[in-house]
Amino acid sequence: MDPLAPDAVVPRLRGRFGQPYLYAYECASTQRLLLDSSLPEGAVAVAEHQTAGRGRQGRSWLAPPGTALLVSVLLRPPPERCAPELSLVAGLAVAEALEETTGARAELKWPNDVLIGGAKVAGILAELRRHVVVGIGVNVSQTEEELPTDAPTPAGSLQTVTGTAPDRVALLAAVLERLERRYDEWLRGSLASLHDEIAARDALRGRPVRLDGRTLVAKRILADGRLEVAAPDGTVHALDSGEVSLGRP
Ligand code: BTN
Repeated sequence: MDPLAPDAVVPRLRGRFGQPYLYAYECASTQRLLLDSSLPEGAVAVAEHQTAGRGRQGRSWLAPPGTALLVSVLLRPPPERCAPELSLVAGLAVAEALEETTGARAELKWPNDVLIGGAKVAGILAELRRHVVVGIGVNVSQTEEELPTDAPTPAGSLQTVTGTAPDRVALLAAVLERLERRYDEWLRGSLASLHDEIAARDALRGRPVRLDGRTLVAKRILADGRLEVAAPDGTVHALDSGEVSLGRP
């Protein structure tokens, strides 16, 4: 069974993302298919199953075959542009695509997670070489038992959080279309051009977060993509990378 094979997907793609469309039923990681590639911007790699799927901060990304959307997209932004911003650009695009296909409100947990109902249903991994490979993993039809239990943010699938698993071809087409649109806006302008939409989906705003054993309050995502946080002594800092976890209210 190859639901995401090129003959099912390519006719549904309307833009330049997905040209070419590389498909493997199984591979180590879709990121690896593009990291050393000379393919043009917009090349996409998709698999039904990864044997060594990669998450952020050296973690692995696991999903039973056929239950997730596992996709990597090759981007060639000008070298002076700030590649880490692409996690937020892609997060916004994925949130919009999830909302379009499920009808459920999707939020961003800075810097790279997409949440529905407080559960992490998608993660973004942007890796930089001479080009950028943006990896997107969406949990689609996993049962509770098939989801990771040790993740810093509780994991959900679209099935567990909305009660329905959407068609993955439709979801993939929506993700690529939204990503192309948001990436082009970012290229023409800056992250600030997308800031209102990103800020409107900020899942951390005003909430206590944990960072390196300390509890801080997340204030907002800034127009340059950093996360503004307030420390207990009242000082305000801007984080430009790393990972915060939701703390207790
Ligand atoms: C994270 O939340 O830690 C990021 C997860 C990114 C997972 C995707 S699945 C497709 C692509 N291939 C990988 O090996 N990782 C990314």
